[in-house]
Amino acid sequence: MARLKSIYRCQECGYSDPKGMGQCPSCSAWNTMVEEAVEASPAKAARRQLAEGAASAVATLSDIRAETEVRTPTGLAELDRLLGGGIVPGQVSLVAGPPGIGKSTLMLQAAAALAAPGRKILYVSGEESPLQVSARAKRIGAAAQSLYFLAETDLSKILRAMSDLKPWGIVLDSIQTLSHPDLASTPGSVGQVRECAMEIVRAAKGSGAAAFVLGHVTKDGTLAGPRVLEHLVDSVFYFDAERHELLRVLRATKNRFGPTDEAGIFEMTERGLREVPNPSAFFMADSKDMGPRPGRAVSATMEGSRPVLVEVQALVVPTRYPLPRRTATGIDLNRVLVLLAALEKHLKLRLDSRDVYVSLAGGLRVKDPALDLAVCLAVASSLRETPLPQDAVLLGEVSLLGGVGRVPQTENRLREAAKAGFSRAVVSARAAKDVLRLPGLEVSGAAGLAEAAGLFFQDTKEPLS
Ligand code: TYD
Ligand code: MG
Repeated sequence: MARLKSIYRCQECGYSDPKGMGQCPSCSAWNTMVEEAVEASPAKAARRQLAEGAASAVATLSDIRAETEVRTPTGLAELDRLLGGGIVPGQVSLVAGPPGIGKSTLMLQAAAALAAPGRKILYVSGEESPLQVSARAKRIGAAAQSLYFLAETDLSKILRAMSDLKPWGIVLDSIQTLSHPDLASTPGSVGQVRECAMEIVRAAKGSGAAAFVLGHVTKDGTLAGPRVLEHLVDSVFYFDAERHELLRVLRATKNRFGPTDEAGIFEMTERGLREVPNPSAFFMADSKDMGPRPGRAVSATMEGSRPVLVEVQALVVPTRYPLPRRTATGIDLNRVLVLLAALEKHLKLRLDSRDVYVSLAGGLRVKDPALDLAVCLAVASSLRETPLPQDAVLLGEVSLLGGVGRVPQTENRLREAAKAGFSRAVVSARAAKDVLRLPGLEVSGAAGLAEAAGLFFQDTKEPLS
């Protein structure tokens, strides 16, 4: 590391000062002075930079591309899906998420998988002791000869260990615990996080080692943590359980070497994270065995670029309250209220004296209008005590006027349904005309709610009360 000194720079006006202050003396803004490490001797630094500049090699674009195509799979298929097949040499990835979500577990598993064929991987933890980490490694079966561990928070010692060991890859758990020796501010502060990250990026790019930097974010994302890192690293992955109660989803929000519309899906077990390669089967497994039930309808949503079958459950019962109750779990209540109004208007369903409960199975949370039709028909099915056929999947956005609209990626969703053994699908009338025919799947079109209900219930002209 070059010799550095610490200064404080105002994030508003750029004024710099050797001392940290609550208020910027130049622009008078409050709490904008952030610590930064700068070269102790600017003249020397300029000379060094010039020398470094002279050493940089110019290459043709095609050569460079050929080099970055070398990818190393981590061995965790769900992670590799996000990495675009594998890690690019020198790739720095930020893995962010709320505390306790499973970041350390995920990265320990990835580190062990990467180390399995003999690659040197260094796992640095500033949060847990060697005993704690080795106990976790045993529990999840993460063992490899070339998996090294270091409990350290001092960045200069970590960088020294890196240059001694020359690991193929390094995991830093977490960026909030690292402290830059030239800075006085506390670990986790914006200045520390940014300066440490810059050094890590420099070390990784210099040595070609892949780096995974872990970072905590609070639920509301207010913590001055990983946000400032996002432009420094190559890839940003968020690990959370936002849309699932039972599953953890890894998503890319920035990815220089891979896709951003993919999602890696995991389940936390007592032996670490288990990959869920087929989320549809995960959500559908139990309910299929129950047989046909009134109030059950199946639809398909998208998780990244992957279609996932979801089960909508509705329960309609006479109310005991002056004002009937409506609750929604896993789906927006306001959307459900709109759909109930559409059902009352366009199917003449009498819901004013009934409680309506709508839920998505498996703890899934989805905001996808494609589920509208399934919600509507699940409610109608429960009210009429008539099960929908078990082999039918419903895809359609329902409008206030009672129309059924087409949904994006209809074909992908239908393909998933066909794969899972569904033999009937109801989509919008327009989508039904031009959608690709899939073997074994009969696709019907419905222009409106009444038409869709008519496919499954008799005498829909009569009030369904
Ligand atoms: P952890 O990876 O420590 O989360 P993070 O690094 O994101 O803070 O793990 C989070 C939780 O997962 C922890 O509360 C314990 C639980 N867990 C299991 O259920 N099974 C396991 O095998 C492991 C290692 C952890
Ligand atoms: Mg952790």
